[in-house]
Amino acid sequence: MADGVFVPPPPRLVEGAHCSSMQQYNDMYKQSIDDPEAFWGAIADQFYWKERHTGKFCDYNFDASKGKVFIEWMRGAKTNICYNALDRHVQGGHADRVAFFWEGNEPADEDRLTYGQLLERVQRCASGLRALGVARGHCVAVYLPMIPELVVTLLACARIGAVHSVVFGGFSADALADRVLDAKCDVMVTSDGFWRGNKLVHLKEIADHAAELCAARDHRLRRVVVVRHLPRLHQHQHPANGAGGGDAQPAKRAQFDVQASWDAARDLWWEDMMSEAALECEPEWMDAEDPLFMLYTSGSTGKPKGVLHTTAGYMLYAATTFKYTFDYHLEDVYWCTADIGWITGHSYVAYGPMLNCATSVMFEGSPFYPSGERPWQIIDKYKVSKFYTAPTAIRALMRLGDDIVTKHSRQSLKVLGSVGEPINPEAWLWYHRVVGGGRCAVVDTFWQTETGGHVLTPLPAATPTKPGSACRPFFGVQPALLDENGAEIAGEGEGYLVFRRPWPGIMRTVYGNHQRFETTYFKKFNGFYCTGDGARRDADGYLWVTGRIDDMLNVSGHLLSTAQIESALIEHPSVSEAAVVAVPHSIKGEAVYCFITNKQGEPWTDELRKELILKVRERIGAFAAPDYLQCAPGLPKTRSGKIMRRVLRKIAQDDRDLGDVSTMADESVIALLFQHRTAQLL
Ligand code: WT7
Repeated sequence: MADGVFVPPPPRLVEGAHCSSMQQYNDMYKQSIDDPEAFWGAIADQFYWKERHTGKFCDYNFDASKGKVFIEWMRGAKTNICYNALDRHVQGGHADRVAFFWEGNEPADEDRLTYGQLLERVQRCASGLRALGVARGHCVAVYLPMIPELVVTLLACARIGAVHSVVFGGFSADALADRVLDAKCDVMVTSDGFWRGNKLVHLKEIADHAAELCAARDHRLRRVVVVRHLPRLHQHQHPANGAGGGDAQPAKRAQFDVQASWDAARDLWWEDMMSEAALECEPEWMDAEDPLFMLYTSGSTGKPKGVLHTTAGYMLYAATTFKYTFDYHLEDVYWCTADIGWITGHSYVAYGPMLNCATSVMFEGSPFYPSGERPWQIIDKYKVSKFYTAPTAIRALMRLGDDIVTKHSRQSLKVLGSVGEPINPEAWLWYHRVVGGGRCAVVDTFWQTETGGHVLTPLPAATPTKPGSACRPFFGVQPALLDENGAEIAGEGEGYLVFRRPWPGIMRTVYGNHQRFETTYFKKFNGFYCTGDGARRDADGYLWVTGRIDDMLNVSGHLLSTAQIESALIEHPSVSEAAVVAVPHSIKGEAVYCFITNKQGEPWTDELRKELILKVRERIGAFAAPDYLQCAPGLPKTRSGKIMRRVLRKIAQDDRDLGDVSTMADESVIALLFQHRTAQLL
């Protein structure tokens, strides 16, 4: 896609938008950089504070060579994020507004929860947790499926000043135990189990196993609260359980009766905790810089880190990015498909929407169950206007053809968001043209667990977009591009994407290891937060994130991003997915090794290999042409859908020592990939 091609904001979104022109964006951006206190102070005025800040509005050191790296916003201010997400709205007359339409794995499973009902449940849960001995500063492990109790638990923790650590329901007992141990959680909230598509996950059994692993390492999980979720589905006449077809699937029904072990001294049912708990629960008034939650990074790049976010800065940033990036208005219905086990779920399923009193869809299931029509059905069912998902889902849905999308109305849609990895222009354009019918803004939002919220993103009614570019910085964010020596690249160019100063939502430390925080993010370039991603700035000043730096290749002195090559390969009509890694090469430094997944039924031939090489030569240049091309029936991915290139690098080099694969979604692809390895230089 040529750099110069702009897709203007859809005119119908402009009127009434929170930011409705580039002029307004530029003015607001300028103020956010020149006078952060005035900019964020005016936003802070819309929230409830028990006390306002006493010290500096923002204080920080980004230069590790000059002492400890630290970031503080509004030190001394007292607030509570749960109060701001619930009580404030209920007092403002919104008790009956729907906060969440809950849509279960089966299309027949649905529920809704108003702000008033949520406040009631959160207070009970908060009192219940307090009664179990959870106090301010304690860390609670949350291991739940995408059910309303998950949001209730997070807000309840926040209400009493406990730090939540959500562990994605797809993680294994080992991964769960590691996270419980690292944060020294002695209370966990989990559930009996859940269905994901046709698969039943016995969550409580995994939690029990994790508790044993902790015990073997001298750590005791004192209390485990268990949400009874499976019988609830049963009541809804869960189709997978035989409803509609008599006892069509007795095996599935029988599985409902399987009970995990029960330790009466430790385990208690959620409903028992709730029924015995006090109805009201005064919030704890937290300091602006008190911890709110920790979340372990997805692990596509090594041992997980407990990323720590604090109270006030995160609150302002999650709320403000949500409001502007999706141009959220009270009449909207918003749906983010991410699991709350990831940061996207924290900021853009839970906190961001609720702080804006939004109405959202919360979806338990998979976009492909019962079929790939599910997302479009849900969008029509709830009249979703703002939709947020990941490129990996977009590409997979794209593969199913246009018809199953276009047979649904989708008239309610206005803004389509993307997050998680670079989106290739082909997928971007499909999202825009087919899903959005050419009427919607596509916002490619770049950010990280560490950044708390969007840091590069277009704004739907203001920014002329370019397919594949995350465009411009969000308010308060000052990006720069540096070369390997730390010299700044002005104007057009490509280098390391770094940030010059903190915005309110940036992480404050790695839990229990501040030194790791400094070395990971601040040691490489003094005075800058280093994202670990590469980016290119084009002639219009637009930023194109090219992927992780460790996903970069250096071929004959040319710095190349794997994403660039992948994007070219994916353009071939026979290819559905491509992943590129570097392998050592005696002359070029690094050689380009490509894994190619064909579209269903497409053969793997010499001719195809030739065409692929031509594609890359054509799109990037001869120096970038693949050195190795191998057929890949599947790719190793994390449970959040990221391609694990570090594993692919090992396969490319025929190294069987793959390292930690605990975050891999499906390990069975590995054997196949070794079988299809190629040592043949093209
Ligand atoms: C990494 C962060 C932030 C929520 C989801 C992932 C990649 C994320 C984009 C984007 C290009 C992107 C980066 C980043 N990434 N969004 N729009 N364009 N790359 O959170 O697990 O912390 O991963 O995801 O490589 O560093 P995460």
